Amino acid sequence: MKFLSLLSLSFMAISSLAMPVKEKSHFVSGKFFDRVVIVIFENIDYADAHKNPYFSSLADKHNGVELTNFTALTHPSQPNYIGLISGSTEGCIDDELVNLDRDTIVDLLEKKHVSWKSYQQGFPGDCALDMTHGKYARKHNPFISFKNIQTNPDRCAKIVNADELTEDIKNDTVPQFVFFTPDMDNDGHDTNLTAAANWFESFIEPLMKEKTLTKNTMFVSTFDEAEHYTNVPNGIQTVLFGPDFKRKSDAKSDDKPYNLYSILRTVEDNWDLGTLNLVDRIATPLDL
Ligand SMILES: *[C@@H]1O[C@H](CO)[C@@H](O)[C@H](O)[C@H]1NC(C)=O
Ligand SMILES: *[C@@H]1O[C@H](CO)[C@@H](O)[C@H](O)[C@H]1NC(C)=O
Ligand SMILES: *[C@@H]1O[C@H](CO)[C@@H](O)[C@H](O)[C@H]1NC(C)=O
Repeated sequence: MKFLSLLSLSFMAISSLAMPVKEKSHFVSGKFFDRVVIVIFENIDYADAHKNPYFSSLADKHNGVELTNFTALTHPSQPNYIGLISGSTEGCIDDELVNLDRDTIVDLLEKKHVSWKSYQQGFPGDCALDMTHGKYARKHNPFISFKNIQTNPDRCAKIVNADELTEDIKNDTVPQFVFFTPDMDNDGHDTNLTAAANWFESFIEPLMKEKTLTKNTMFVSTFDEAEHYTNVPNGIQTVLFGPDFKRKSDAKSDDKPYNLYSILRTVEDNWDLGTLNLVDRIATPLDL
């Protein structure tokens, strides 16, 4: 017994010397969830999403809650995406090229070793700075527009073509912070709500059975902005859901006033990341 365990100990010592040291991936438990998957659609008024058969069924179907008093930040698209990951729309007023020089959720996540990726449908990879590439649009991929991401190869490598999610699910390497942007057909931008709903259903329903994605995960379905600028105050639909999603309440809807910063703030609170000290500091966290 003793001899054997000594032998196996020394074998382990030798094999660990001989093997290249593979950095152990960090896993950081969260207060409310261990993973967040944010999927963001385009340009739909709250009332329309709420009436859509698929978007309105999500909460019931997957143990979730519809946030019925939720607003975007502004118009048009890009500043909403920028605000969602950086706590401010500062420096971005339209869909034109921006290169911003401030921290984002990525800085906070990395400080606490919480893994992240931005999955972008149609993204050509290699840190492409193109404004569009087929049905991919940079204005819907906010990560690429921050200098401390676009000039950092390790960070840039975490902006990937969305096809990589399938591989990450298979390999059990889905990061803890997942930002997913469908392409401009699937997110409704160049199509309509029905097309977005059809795509989302065919995409997300099979994934609800993939434990390496759903385990202790909060899925967030949201929109960047309302379609009609006359829709004041820019009401959009957000649904939180997931087979393992846990909240203190079973209510299927929540009418507290939230906005896109509430998602950011909840991610920050979940992993005790602190805030970016911008609008996220005063944002209302989601009531989980
Ligand atoms: C998944 O695992 C395979 C086999 O180890 C590897 O070749 C591939 O690069 C991995 N995929 C990703 C996206 O890391
Ligand atoms: C919605 O978009 C799809 C895909 O582009 C199209 O086939 C369909 O006709 C559109 N429906 C409406 C009502 O515009
Ligand atoms: C949303 O919240 C605001 C602020 O509390 C409130 O005035 C408004 O009536 C709410 N709207 C809905 C539709 O619940």
